[in-house]
Amino acid sequence: MSIERAVEILSAGGLVAFPTETVYGLGADATDPRAVARVYQAKGRPSFNPLIAHVPSLAAAAAHAHLHPRARALGEAFWPGPLTLVAPRAGESSVCELACAGLSTIALRAPAHPVAQALLAAFGKPIVAPSANRSGHLSATSADHVRADFGGAVELVLEGGASEIGLESTIIAIDANGRAMLLRPGAIPRTEIETITGPLATAGGAITAPGMLASHYAPRARLRLDVKAPEPGEAYLAFGAPAPEGGLTLSASGNLTEAAANLYAHLRALDASGVQVIAVAPIPARGLGEAIRDRLARAAAPR
Ligand code: TXA
Ligand code: MG
Repeated sequence: MSIERAVEILSAGGLVAFPTETVYGLGADATDPRAVARVYQAKGRPSFNPLIAHVPSLAAAAAHAHLHPRARALGEAFWPGPLTLVAPRAGESSVCELACAGLSTIALRAPAHPVAQALLAAFGKPIVAPSANRSGHLSATSADHVRADFGGAVELVLEGGASEIGLESTIIAIDANGRAMLLRPGAIPRTEIETITGPLATAGGAITAPGMLASHYAPRARLRLDVKAPEPGEAYLAFGAPAPEGGLTLSASGNLTEAAANLYAHLRALDASGVQVIAVAPIPARGLGEAIRDRLARAAAPR
C-alpha cells in the first residue's frame, strides 16, 4: 500500500525517503531533473556533489555505465548489497546529468533491503538517493532520524526499522581500464573488496567523492577522538566497555559490526543531550573500523 503511494509521489516528481541496509535514502526519480533538483534543495547539498542512482541489480546497472569485467565481478560478489560502483557513464543512460553533477562518471548501487527492492521493482526506473540527512549532518539510520532532519519537506518516509548496518556503502571507482580505487570506506571492509580487485588505491587529491570533504557527518557538539579517559563534563562514547554514566557504548564487547550499527544513533543521542564535547574511545582500524574511524574523523573536523 505505502509502496503504491511512494510510486505515485516519485512519478509526480516528489521525494520519498526509504530504508536501505546501510542508511536511509532520500529518493527521487533519477531520470527527472526537476525531481533531482528537489533532492539537492531539500538536503541543502551543493549541486557539484553527485548522487548515487539505485537500481535493482547488476543487470539493471549495466544499462547506465560501462562496466569493466572487474566492476562486473564486484557487482556479482556484492549486489544486492552495500557497495556503490563509480564507472564511466553510458551515453544511453536515462539518469539525468544533474544527478551526476555533470561528471562523465555515474555512481550505481543495488541495495538489498526488501523495502528498497520492492520500491525499485514497483517504480521501474532508477532512484537517486543520498543519505536522508541535511547536508553535513549525521546520516539517518531510522525513520525518526529522517523526520527530525526534514519534517514535512519529505512527503513520505517508508518505515524499515533501524538500519541493519548503519554505515554508508563502500564506494569503489573502476575506470575504463579496470583500475580500482577506494573513494569512500564503508559497509564492506577493504579486505573483502581486495579479494576481487587486488590492493586498492585510496582516493587522494585529484579524484574526489565530494563526500570526502573534510567536515561531514557532523554533530553539533565537538568531538574528541581516541580518548581513553574522558574529562569531567564530557559525554563518553565507549567501545569495548560498558557505557559510563551520561555516556553510551558503541559495543560493550568490542564488536565492530555492532559499533557500526550504533554509530549515528548514539552520536545523535549524545548530541541531543546538549553536551559541549563528546569524547570517543579508540576504535581499531581493522575491518569496519576503517569506515567508522573515517566518519568520526570527519565529524571531528573543524567547521
Ligand atoms: O549507503 C549509501 O551509499 C547511501 C544509501 C542511501 O544508498 N547513500 C549515500 O549517498 O551515502 P550520499 O549522497 O550521502 O553519498 C554518496 C557519495 C557522495 O560523497 C558523492 O560525492 C559520491 O557518492 N559520488 C556520487 N557520484 C559520484 C561520482 N560520479 N564520482 C565520485 N563520487 C561520486
Ligand atoms: Mg551522505
